[in-house]
Amino acid sequence: MKLALLTSGGDAPGMNAAIRATVRCGTERGIEMIGIHRGFNGVIEGAFDPLDNRAVGGIIERGGTMLRSARSKTFLTPEGQARALEQIEAHGIDGMIVIGGNGSLRGARWLEEHGVPTVGMPASIDNDIPQTAMSIGVDTALNTVVEALNRIRDTAVAHERAFVIEVMGRKSGYIALMGGLAGGAEVILLPETSMPLPQVVEQVRAGVRKGKRHSIIVVAEGFVPNDMDAANPSAGRVLTDALERDGTVETRLTILGHLQRGGSPTAFDRVLACRFAQAAVSWLAEDRHGVYATLSGDEIAPAPFAAVEGACNNVDLGLLKLANTVAH
Ligand code: F6P
Repeated sequence: MKLALLTSGGDAPGMNAAIRATVRCGTERGIEMIGIHRGFNGVIEGAFDPLDNRAVGGIIERGGTMLRSARSKTFLTPEGQARALEQIEAHGIDGMIVIGGNGSLRGARWLEEHGVPTVGMPASIDNDIPQTAMSIGVDTALNTVVEALNRIRDTAVAHERAFVIEVMGRKSGYIALMGGLAGGAEVILLPETSMPLPQVVEQVRAGVRKGKRHSIIVVAEGFVPNDMDAANPSAGRVLTDALERDGTVETRLTILGHLQRGGSPTAFDRVLACRFAQAAVSWLAEDRHGVYATLSGDEIAPAPFAAVEGACNNVDLGLLKLANTVAH
């Protein structure tokens, strides 16, 4: 049996741990393992290379992905897709393992529906993949956000300022909510719960009235105040400008950006990567495919690719209420 694996979309810490575990779980079963470089672009270009156990040594602690990643535009074209199928056949691949976020799992689904036995592994810092409580990379990104909030708080206290911290997450507020709760943020703003700008300003003012001389405001990049249109370039910039205009407290903005995607994966992400990998390889070996691995309770369970189109319920608004309670 010959299985190929690739990493695709935005990289996530723990992808390397997933590559290592996938290869080693495969070779243990006598499966030939092939790494594809640069995501779906590499499938189209035929960038296939055999991977043995030694080739994936020394990477468990590294962020990024040794296979590299890409958001492939070519794979969305009929020509690119046809070429991808040709390459998979020409290389004698019996099954594919796709490690990535929602877009990558959609690509995996396309392969499955076009005759290539395929299994997916959720990896994305956004934690916006339906059916799985956690994706690879989320825990590391959250810890990075908390570390950043600790540092910002030092300077916020020293200068008695408000800080707006914009975090990633695309349309999901998961990183903002959990990072804000763990980091002790005074205000947390999510795409899932919009509010008008004056209300945000009033929340900060209320903190000042209670004697808070500094504030940490964590805003998800996907937050849109409901008195503004969605075309704003930066949720953080809009808020900072509103607070500065109000003038109650001096305000600075930090956009954490791509530093949230880097760094050595936490123990949680490494363990999750190993467990997803073990499941993915065993499913393909048993001729079970068209699914992606999920963390459901404490178990690893398969979800059909179609589930990617469903709703993701990882943002628990009860925790937002709790965050507001414990911040005041
Ligand atoms: O999906 C992961 C993510 O980091 C999002 O949080 C963010 O919106 C996006 O990718 C950024 O993408 P890029 O690296 O292509 O700029």
